[in-house]
Amino acid sequence: MNAPSNPATALTGEPIEVNVGLGERAYDIVIGRDLLADLGARIAALRPGCKVAIVTDETVAKHHLAATEAALKAAGVEASRVVVAPGEASKSIGVLERVCDAVIGARIERGDLIVALGGGVVGDLAGFAASVVRRGIDFVQVPTTLLAQVDSSVGGKTGVNTAHGKNLIGAFHQPILVIADTALLDTLPEREFRAGYAEVVKYGLLGDAEFFDWLETNWRDVFKGGPARGNAAAPREYAVRKSVEAKAEIVRRDERETGDRMLLNLGHTFGHAFEAAAGFSDRLLHGEAIGLGMALAFEFSARRGLIPEAQADRVIRHLAAVGLPTRIQDVPGEPFSLDTLMNLIAQDKKVKRGALTFILVRGIGASFIARDVEASDVRAFLSDKLAGA
Ligand SMILES: NC(=O)c1ccc[n+]([C@@H]2O[C@H](COP(=O)([O-])OP(=O)(O)OC[C@H]3O[C@@H](n4cnc5c(N)ncnc54)[C@H](O)[C@@H]3O)[C@@H](O)[C@H]2O)c1
Ligand SMILES: [Zn+2]
Repeated sequence: MNAPSNPATALTGEPIEVNVGLGERAYDIVIGRDLLADLGARIAALRPGCKVAIVTDETVAKHHLAATEAALKAAGVEASRVVVAPGEASKSIGVLERVCDAVIGARIERGDLIVALGGGVVGDLAGFAASVVRRGIDFVQVPTTLLAQVDSSVGGKTGVNTAHGKNLIGAFHQPILVIADTALLDTLPEREFRAGYAEVVKYGLLGDAEFFDWLETNWRDVFKGGPARGNAAAPREYAVRKSVEAKAEIVRRDERETGDRMLLNLGHTFGHAFEAAAGFSDRLLHGEAIGLGMALAFEFSARRGLIPEAQADRVIRHLAAVGLPTRIQDVPGEPFSLDTLMNLIAQDKKVKRGALTFILVRGIGASFIARDVEASDVRAFLSDKLAGA
């Protein structure tokens, strides 16, 4: 193999296209800088004569709505807009109702489109609205956070939260197009970028050791972004591409998460417990919880003799270098209670008949679904970690 030493430099200035091969539900994810300008033309090519309703949040609207509307207008695509409050609270039945009413009020018919312009909150909300308005209309994802570009915009999971928990009402509804304009990430606060980066690292850790190696060397350039389209070396675009390819391949194999798609939950069983215990608040963002969760999944795998401790150390070193939490003590605020964490882990939907299911590793890039993990082993492990071991 004579692979270039830095595969990102092999990219051309052309946008990258990754196809999600789902038969009649297949779609393209287009990745590159400054792609938003082509949104109208791409939509008009896919659905000549269609109208669109843009769903976005106030923060994203401030930065990127005008450019989105201009891009649609330039291609003669008529657009209306629905702007929701930023934040997880907008993933609710109440806001869903508002979005659906606005979309219907804008005379969006079968054959027209919803455009989800925003992070995972807007994508999940707008995608779910698209799945139910007039029994289902098409939608396009324009993800504006790193998390949304590498994770939530791909794969068709949509939904809202209920008082009982996150994402409990929803549908599988695939977009017809995803436009991942990496320049939109330039306005994203660094903390949000870093949280999304945890999911990028996840793809390396779960199935691609070479990608993890590359990230260890190039992560600073991924964060930095740029330069403009036309320059060959584009580490951010490469990182998004590798992530999306990994997710697309897993989704293709297992669209409805009955098997392999579970591997995408690496770091998520531990991570969700901390995220929930922190009240889904600013104290610990989802990606931060996943950084911590992946560190714990590697340490737990080491404790079970699946990997040498040095490998867990290497993973933790990288996560810590970018500024993600890797020790429970890194999370600010009150100490976590072991009972609370264990209850949350037991409630996690990945529990089957009492035994716990975890995604563990036999190496960097070698994750597997471990069923029948004894709760007592997890408890002993977390007890040590809470004590600072
Ligand atoms: N559907 C899936 O497969 C899937 C996968 C992972 C996560 N999710 C969901 O995604 C959600 C989290 O997504 P998120 O992390 O993108 O959060 P988010 O959508 O809340 O965005 C984070 C914050 O960044 C702001 N923002 C977004 N883009 C910006 C930009 N370009 N510039 C400046 N600010 C910007 C938003 O207004 C918000 O305040 C959760 O609800 C989670 O359940 C879904
Ligand atoms: Zn996640």
